[in-house]
Amino acid sequence: METEKINAEVIAVFPNKVKILVDKLEDFQLAEETLKVGSYLRIADNDNAVLIAVIENFSIEVISGEKVPSDRRYIIEANPLGIIRDGIFERGGDTIAIPPKKVEPAKKEEIQKIFEESLPDKKKFCFSCLSTDETICVPVDGDKFFNKHIAIVGSTGSGKSHSVAKILQNAISAKEGTYQGLNNSHIVIFDIHSEYQSAFPQAHFIDISNLILPYWLLNSDELQELFIDTEANDHNQRNVFKEAVIESRKRYFKGSDEKKNRIHFDSPLFFEINEVLQFAKDKNEEMVPGQGTNKKMGPLNGKLSNFVSRLENKINDRRLDFLLGEKSKTITFEDTLKQLIGYGEDTSNITIIDLSGVPFEVLSITVSLISRILFEFGYYYKRLCAVKRADKHINNDIPLLLVYEEAHKYVPNNEMAKYRASRESIERIAKEGRKYGVSLLLASQRPSEISETIFSQCNNFLALRLTNPADQNYVKRLLPDTLGNIVDKMPSLKAGECLLIGDAVVLPSIVRVQRCNPEPSSNDIPYLQLWKEEWHDLDVDTLRKIWDY
Ligand SMILES: Nc1ncnc2c1ncn2[C@@H]1O[C@H](COP(=O)(O)OP(=O)(O)OP(=O)(O)O)[C@@H](O)[C@H]1O
Ligand SMILES: [Mg+2]
Repeated sequence: METEKINAEVIAVFPNKVKILVDKLEDFQLAEETLKVGSYLRIADNDNAVLIAVIENFSIEVISGEKVPSDRRYIIEANPLGIIRDGIFERGGDTIAIPPKKVEPAKKEEIQKIFEESLPDKKKFCFSCLSTDETICVPVDGDKFFNKHIAIVGSTGSGKSHSVAKILQNAISAKEGTYQGLNNSHIVIFDIHSEYQSAFPQAHFIDISNLILPYWLLNSDELQELFIDTEANDHNQRNVFKEAVIESRKRYFKGSDEKKNRIHFDSPLFFEINEVLQFAKDKNEEMVPGQGTNKKMGPLNGKLSNFVSRLENKINDRRLDFLLGEKSKTITFEDTLKQLIGYGEDTSNITIIDLSGVPFEVLSITVSLISRILFEFGYYYKRLCAVKRADKHINNDIPLLLVYEEAHKYVPNNEMAKYRASRESIERIAKEGRKYGVSLLLASQRPSEISETIFSQCNNFLALRLTNPADQNYVKRLLPDTLGNIVDKMPSLKAGECLLIGDAVVLPSIVRVQRCNPEPSSNDIPYLQLWKEEWHDLDVDTLRKIWDY
């Protein structure tokens, strides 16, 4: 009976687009839902093969004539997504042909069936539902989703942090079977605004007060960035520094002479930073034999004063204790790794590295060092697995996910030297990490400022509300053409609503991410409510103590 009323037909077919003419919009809508951009349509002559398309835009054509009011026709443009044939949904929809086909809003059961049946239950990972119908859950293929890199983009307040939290909360609670205790998920969050501890009370929490990173694991670029005034471009400094580091490494090395001779600037072996300082001081004050019994100044005498004072400043800077302090000298590589991936005394699925106290000038090398250690973990662990589990297909049974909040801060789309270290480390993971079971989740409010190398390696996207046109265009460029103008909906999404696209997604969809529980501490501050309260006292003394720890 209902179908009799339907009055819509396909009037034009383009690559990736169909144009539909509707006579009476009121009759076209289904009683239980209103059609919106993002709603699904079914296009068919019979029920054997049904093309499913998603509405991209509506328009009204006014046909002017004698009649007042004039005739109106409704035009819908939609993107074909796939075909339901014999009850099974397949992606791809290029089989539509004129003559016109009958168009109706897709039935809820059809859409539900697509999302329910297109993935085996084992692979389903769900954190969102359709924004046009919140009773329909939208699963992604969990293996594909986490195996390739993920990008979550959106303007400030669009819901990135909440989405990250929801995805990770579901990941750490997913279990196969009925065992007690932790599942085998391994996640490291680089938390720049101290937001995530409240969302993951169980997480292993590291901040500047308990983070220990060995400076001697920094590579040569990072070491130079830290200790040398790179802008001065002083060869003497570089040479003296390099020589001192290598010498000190050799002095502490306990292996064979043959191996000792192969030690170089980048060898991940202990060296004593105070020896480097002493070496530089000696060179800076060196006297060499001159004429007769006289002595004259050595070749570098007085030329290293800046370098010496820079080294001294760094070594004495208490804010850098996590990197240069006594504990950094005694911590082993094994313990460094364990603290970073939750294999310490309290095992944990999630490790939160709160970077809020890390001085800005060492943020890049800190992130770089940690990222590199984690990438190399994946690399070497794969080799270990190859030996141990030669019979198995899986080459890393402890895959990691590294989460970078505000990713544009570590991997910006420019060549500035101060970001070089973190950009290189993370770009390497973007390019090679997948093979070694190390993948990235990048969240950013400025996608156009993220390194393109990294962004283009992402396979799955949550595009939340984006208001900046430069960012919208950037995201648009990276998305498949077939999505056309759906992307234009990005500025009007509500908090938590996003365009979910990528190779793990059954259908590109506008979804609402489920609320996370507990929440990250990133909620909007209720200004007016707070301002209306009675004057709050402020303990400036305590504040001061935190300020310079
Ligand atoms: N799925 C959701 N459903 C409803 N509201 C949400 C959802 N996700 C987030 N919000 C609301 O939107 C607000 C902003 O969320 P969130 O802090 O995650 O944004 P953000 O994109 O991380 O912002 P910023 O860039 O400033 O860090 C929060 O107050 C939250 O309550
Ligand atoms: Mg946030």
